[in-house]
Amino acid sequence: MKIEWQTILNECAEKIQEKVRPLFRKRETRSLGVGAGGDEIKRIDLAAEKALMDVLNKHGISYTLISEESGIKKIGNCPEQFYITVDPLDGSTNANRGIPFIATSIAVSRKPELSSVELALVSDLYHKITYLAEQGKGAFRNKIAIIPSKFTGLMDAVIGVDLHTYRATETAAKLTSLVREIKHLRHLGANALELCYVADGTVDAFVDIRGKLRVTDMAAAYLILKEAGAIITTMEGKALNAQLDPTQKVSFVASGNPTLHKKILSLLK
Ligand code: IPD
Ligand code: CA
Repeated sequence: MKIEWQTILNECAEKIQEKVRPLFRKRETRSLGVGAGGDEIKRIDLAAEKALMDVLNKHGISYTLISEESGIKKIGNCPEQFYITVDPLDGSTNANRGIPFIATSIAVSRKPELSSVELALVSDLYHKITYLAEQGKGAFRNKIAIIPSKFTGLMDAVIGVDLHTYRATETAAKLTSLVREIKHLRHLGANALELCYVADGTVDAFVDIRGKLRVTDMAAAYLILKEAGAIITTMEGKALNAQLDPTQKVSFVASGNPTLHKKILSLLK
């Protein structure tokens, strides 16, 4: 039986959106424990994950779930045929506060490895914008092909820089040279979506060198970036790869074009 993955992933995004919307801006403080990725789980995170699994299970798919919340779960008789790596709700703090920048991120692969991701969806749950990419077939935003920015000037580039952590001092020190050269620094609070903004040229680059971002949060955006023609590497400029596991963390620089990428990397050394 051929699985219509794109249709199923879109259905997942719609279901998640339906379940997340009533919990948006609820400022819930109650924690339901700690998720596999190490963060506290809120009702909204679980609602998103349940909606996703309900859709996959309705279609009778056997798969291994790799989720920020529940960790690794094997579903059905043949769970090693597909690995579905998800951050059901990226931007939990935004959702809780009512900041309209939240996403769901779903990546499908046949091996539990970042470079093996074959199909990816990141959906902006507030604005109904969906990014989709399939290996070798390009990347799309609401079905329209996307390309990254050709902008190379550091001074006027819009660059996302993630400094979200309790003790930013160590990361901040590594970013000083870059921050000195740029004017439009951003961090919007949902990295999957911010990486898609690099893929479609909304922003010129995104830098997360904290070593804190879970691979579950960026596995889908990784393929979307690559298929759009953007660049994502380690801060040393090496190819980025990682095991798909909820505890695995990554650091990276993503840019719209090689010239800008080189300029950013040289300022991180
Ligand atoms: C978070 C967001 C945020 C990043 C954090 C992530 P979550 O994801 O992507 O932008 O700075 O490191 O944990 O927890 O809302 O899924
Ligand atoms: Ca999350």
